[in-house]
Amino acid sequence: MNRLTERLGIRWPLIQAPMAGVQNAALAIAAGEAGALGSLPCAMLAPEAMAAELQRLAATGRPYNVNFFCHTPPAPDAAREAGWRAALAPYFAEIGLDPASVPAGAGRLPFSAAAADVLETFRPRVVSFHFGLPEPALLARVKAWGAVVLSSATTVEEAVWLEAHGADAVIAQGLEAGGHRGHFLSHDLTLQSGTFALLPQIKAAVRVPVIAAGGIADAAGVRAAMALGADGVQVGTAYLCSDEATTSALHRAALQSEAARHTQLTTLFTGRPARGIPNRVMRELGPMHPAAPAFPLATAAIAPLRAHWEKQGQGDFSPLWSGQNASGCRSGSAKAITAALAEGFGPI
Ligand SMILES: Cc1cc2nc3c(=O)[nH]c(=O)nc-3n(C[C@H](O)[C@H](O)[C@H](O)COP(=O)(O)O)c2cc1C
Repeated sequence: MNRLTERLGIRWPLIQAPMAGVQNAALAIAAGEAGALGSLPCAMLAPEAMAAELQRLAATGRPYNVNFFCHTPPAPDAAREAGWRAALAPYFAEIGLDPASVPAGAGRLPFSAAAADVLETFRPRVVSFHFGLPEPALLARVKAWGAVVLSSATTVEEAVWLEAHGADAVIAQGLEAGGHRGHFLSHDLTLQSGTFALLPQIKAAVRVPVIAAGGIADAAGVRAAMALGADGVQVGTAYLCSDEATTSALHRAALQSEAARHTQLTTLFTGRPARGIPNRVMRELGPMHPAAPAFPLATAAIAPLRAHWEKQGQGDFSPLWSGQNASGCRSGSAKAITAALAEGFGPI
């Protein structure tokens, strides 16, 4: 037991990272059964779907984490959208798609009053946010039932800000991490560092528990993070090929291929830097494209290309999210993956 396991009500100070688009409650339930904290990502769930997943988690009687993005939705920008569609035009032409038939819109939603309404009926023990914290009134609603609030920091400044604004623990998200970078104070990626550089500096700067995330893929990684002072770890990529994840077959194949040894940050799929395995569109347009609309508006125009090529069994336009260390990404039950990671905490 340490202060994090006590606070979260779990056996191991291990959080199965919330991963929107590749999991539902099944993965969270399995990780929870094995003594970790399972997470339900809600960035791509409408309130009804969210309620159905929460029902499944609540039925376990175990603590669980519910995760939200909390970005400020950008104002639509017609000129930027047109520039983005122009960049994608050759690809639309290649598959005979009329770009005018492709709707614009946001594929990911921030935490909202409607989401808080649903959440309030379940009162989850833990709520985590990515991209900062929601506005004070919404955060107060979550805190009202005593939820432990977590959020990701990619710099020391963000960790200090999160502690000052009500986070009960900080996730130190190193540059190795798969999926979206959690930054919210600055878009300058050169300010960000690797997990083992970031973790001790955040530990020295805040009093709340610090959870290490990024590149931790096995028991040795867990041990190393704990030796550097982490109060716990959050692991994402290592769960992507688990039986309970909904990761597509082509994403699983990429994760278990040599291509996964080299990942890149890309804005092509959502407008915000996120780490994934390079594919055709990243190679041809470059992973960070100046025309990509602000997060999350870039998704709409690329979505039909993704759908078309996935039907042909190709991941050339799909986000193949992965952290830098996909070596722990194996098939099997999330229970077995959790147990293997938990060996890093030593004998109980
Ligand atoms: C496929 C994928 C999707 C992710 N989606 C989310 C998400 O919805 N919310 C969130 O807070 N973090 C998300 N993350 C980031 C994780 O919380 C975490 O920072 C990361 O997985 C840790 O690094 P690792 O992948 O090297 O283990 C995602 C990561 C991946 C790989």
